[in-house]
Amino acid sequence: MVPALVLWLAVCLSGTWAVDRGNFKTCDQSAFCKRQRALKPGQSPYRALLETMELTNTRLTLQLINDNNKVRLLLELYRLQGNMTRVKINELKPLKPRFEVPDVLIQEPPTEPLSLLSKDENGVVLSLGAESQRVIVSAQPFRLDIMEGHEVLMSLNSRGLLAFEHLRMRKDTFSYKVTSTVASVWDNIKWVFSSSQADPEAEKKEEADPANQAEEQTAKDDEEKVEDGMWEETFKSHSDSKPNGPSSISLDFSLPGVEHVYGIPEHADTLKLKTTDGGEPYRLYNLDVFQYELYNPMALYGAVPVMLAHNAQRTTGIFWLNAAETWVDISSNTAGKTVFGKMLDYVQGSSETPQTDVRWISESGIIDVFIMLGPTPYDVFSQYASLTGTQAFPPLAGLAYHQCRWNYNDQEDVQSVDVGFDQHDIPYDFIWLDIEHTDGKRYFTWDPHKFATPKDMLEALMVKKRKMVAIVDPHIKVDSNYKIHNEIRSRGFYVKNKDGGDYEGWCWPGNAGYPDFTNPEMRSWWASMFAYDQYEGSMKNLYTWNDMNEPSVFNGPEVTMHKDAMHGAWENRDVHNLYGFYVQMATAEGLIQRSGGVERPFVLTRAFFAGSQRYGAVWTGDNAAEWEHLKISIPMCLSLGLVGISLCGADVGGFFKTPSSELLVRWYQTGAYQPFFRAHAHLDTPRREPWLFGPENTALIREVVRQRYALLPYWYQLFHHAYHTGHPVMRPLWVEYPQDSATFAMDNQFLIGRDLLVHPVTEEGARGVTAYLPGKGEVWFDVHTFQKHNGAQNLYIPVTMSSIPVFQRGGSIIPRKVRVRRSSSCMENDPYTLYVALGPQRAAEGELYIDDSHTFNFEKKEFIHRRLSFANNILSSINLAPDAQYSTQSWIERILILGASKPSKVTLKTSDGQERQVEFEFDSSMSVLTLRKPGMNAGADWTVALQ
Ligand code: GLC
Repeated sequence: MVPALVLWLAVCLSGTWAVDRGNFKTCDQSAFCKRQRALKPGQSPYRALLETMELTNTRLTLQLINDNNKVRLLLELYRLQGNMTRVKINELKPLKPRFEVPDVLIQEPPTEPLSLLSKDENGVVLSLGAESQRVIVSAQPFRLDIMEGHEVLMSLNSRGLLAFEHLRMRKDTFSYKVTSTVASVWDNIKWVFSSSQADPEAEKKEEADPANQAEEQTAKDDEEKVEDGMWEETFKSHSDSKPNGPSSISLDFSLPGVEHVYGIPEHADTLKLKTTDGGEPYRLYNLDVFQYELYNPMALYGAVPVMLAHNAQRTTGIFWLNAAETWVDISSNTAGKTVFGKMLDYVQGSSETPQTDVRWISESGIIDVFIMLGPTPYDVFSQYASLTGTQAFPPLAGLAYHQCRWNYNDQEDVQSVDVGFDQHDIPYDFIWLDIEHTDGKRYFTWDPHKFATPKDMLEALMVKKRKMVAIVDPHIKVDSNYKIHNEIRSRGFYVKNKDGGDYEGWCWPGNAGYPDFTNPEMRSWWASMFAYDQYEGSMKNLYTWNDMNEPSVFNGPEVTMHKDAMHGAWENRDVHNLYGFYVQMATAEGLIQRSGGVERPFVLTRAFFAGSQRYGAVWTGDNAAEWEHLKISIPMCLSLGLVGISLCGADVGGFFKTPSSELLVRWYQTGAYQPFFRAHAHLDTPRREPWLFGPENTALIREVVRQRYALLPYWYQLFHHAYHTGHPVMRPLWVEYPQDSATFAMDNQFLIGRDLLVHPVTEEGARGVTAYLPGKGEVWFDVHTFQKHNGAQNLYIPVTMSSIPVFQRGGSIIPRKVRVRRSSSCMENDPYTLYVALGPQRAAEGELYIDDSHTFNFEKKEFIHRRLSFANNILSSINLAPDAQYSTQSWIERILILGASKPSKVTLKTSDGQERQVEFEFDSSMSVLTLRKPGMNAGADWTVALQ
């Protein structure tokens, strides 16, 4: 058995919880991070060579020289459409190409004209077009300042931390004659031959080039300066051969006026990022961290190198497009100062402008950074979406409830769980199968005894309009009797080790190979494996879960792949954080192709990168049945939403350990209001289907799962919107109330869309919670009692075990389907209830979006999209998409108007000109008007007038 597995079982059984920190590097143990962090702010050695400047209509290029070693860099600057600036810095003449991230941007970002405003020996000023924005390029030391009017929005290299380790010859190439063994002589010769300088003609030309002379000089300089960890590095028993030597890059960004920065998931930390002075930087390196700890900056399964900066005036963003191991340092001149301290500074006139400084460090690749200039949070979301795409629009069922555990043991088990849901009258859409369903951890197969007739099982689910997800991990059992392995091997699709053989590591199946998902041919072959005739036993209602795709390698360094493993021409070092992104991409493509391009896929991934939102859902990995893990699910999913990944969830109940029934109920109540709602549990935990905790708890869980199902029309509409705009579905309050600083660091409540505010109960034994209702002059309605509350206030809400504090914003209309059935598909034609919550102006607005819920036909305009609005005592439904066509059998069954006054009559007018009176009831204690059975079709034009 592999060591990681042994450890896993040992800890599960003993019940102690702690990450083994010794398994994962600190910045000090990561040679490039240590080298870079040793560089302190100060005067930058880089100087812009203004005489090399070239300006075309849309691009500025300029050489930078490092005055210490004379190595030149090439800076490129673009103004991008949509208020963004792109800055690229690479070596002017790298010894060999440096990795540039492919496939993450959805297109070459369209540019806009740049124009020169002024130039002298100190620098250059360019106009960025819109709104008096300029970029100032200062020559010595080199820095960039992006300004709007007199305000500096962001500065680059203002702290002098631009550092670019140029590729170089290894020191011993110069002295091989005297020192080397025959083998290393051959290595050196290969190295020299593989570089362009082996060609004597080319060599002559290159010598004439001053840049190359500089490089030669540098190579000599470097002979003096070889440090440990530059050409190889050892961590625990693992050595990293670093054939390209040091190659790291770094750049600093200053954000004047900013005290709040967010993003750079994935970390188990607060929503507002902390300063890292004196501690570890936030690390972005996709890793399978066993028993991760909370509130720290250690790396986790996924990495999105995007940070948002916010203050009451503006939101901006930084997208650092680099897939190598990355560390992010954050410092702030107001860190640690209390509000009183800041006031005192202000009164005494000693206040400095608050400022946050950020520094990004990556192990290889180039500097390619997109500066998103907002100014609103929604502008930043749109800007980022225009670069990397939007959230995949999941099938409606993907937004419903998912029942998972490691493992459902066999077909009978699946059937009895399925029946259990019916017996207890709890809806669910998907039941999941973990790794034990396979034939010996060979993915795409079924255990011949336990899952002998998978199609019968899937068929039985299909009859009930339910679905299944089966796991397909990217490590492939090395077994010459396994078709998938044989094909990958014979096609040469495995990642290679540094010596050119197939890379092998330990994972669930024992010895495993890792397909090279960076190879497009490999991806299309993988996608073809999901065809119904390839994936035996699969059917239309079988979907996929990709796990362990960091990738997890139990016996690898930091439980992942060796950095010198090769993906074609590139090292894992360069592409590491992209692996999981590509696995999910290829899998989603497979699910699309098997249906001839008709059906929307549903694929869950554990590892991810920028752009992963395009391929499906993400979950927060192996959490634990602890109250703190329940709490952290909120900022973890909020952080993902801010960087485009809206379909996020945490294992409901906690993966490791056993939740008390109180924790389990509270977790269901929280998870039901988060985007991806799946219960999951470790193999060794006792069973925890919702009916195993006594009738009272079953009832509590039933109630909240039913609340989720009732709200599916709203979730679906929000995901449709996210697909078009990239706006997060689950949002921090500050996104909607950007000027209200009380919301800037909130971790314990959130919004779903604009209109629902959720403050889940996440404290053990809670008797009450204090929710913050934002918006001065706004009103909020308790969705359970319809009681109206004013914003902005901290509202104390007494709670019992059945309470889930949720509020609807006055001014909104939310559609629900309140006749809950056993799955979302069973509710397809059910009628709607509209919840109209009147705002202070006695008006409200909302939407209703309907399509077939599972195909791409909505892209062919097969949908209904209505605007619902209430004003001047008239509620109306207007077609928002007159060129779209779809028909629904669903009708409007009931309308609740919250905050209404009593009418004398209510008249419905339909599009055929017919008028009729509608029955109603008025509850004067809560000011709720209920219109009974108005009965119009949900896709039609109509008005309802209150008189
Ligand atoms: C990993 C996953 C977990 C899964 C297990 C077995 O730990 O994170 O969700 O149950 O592997 O496949």
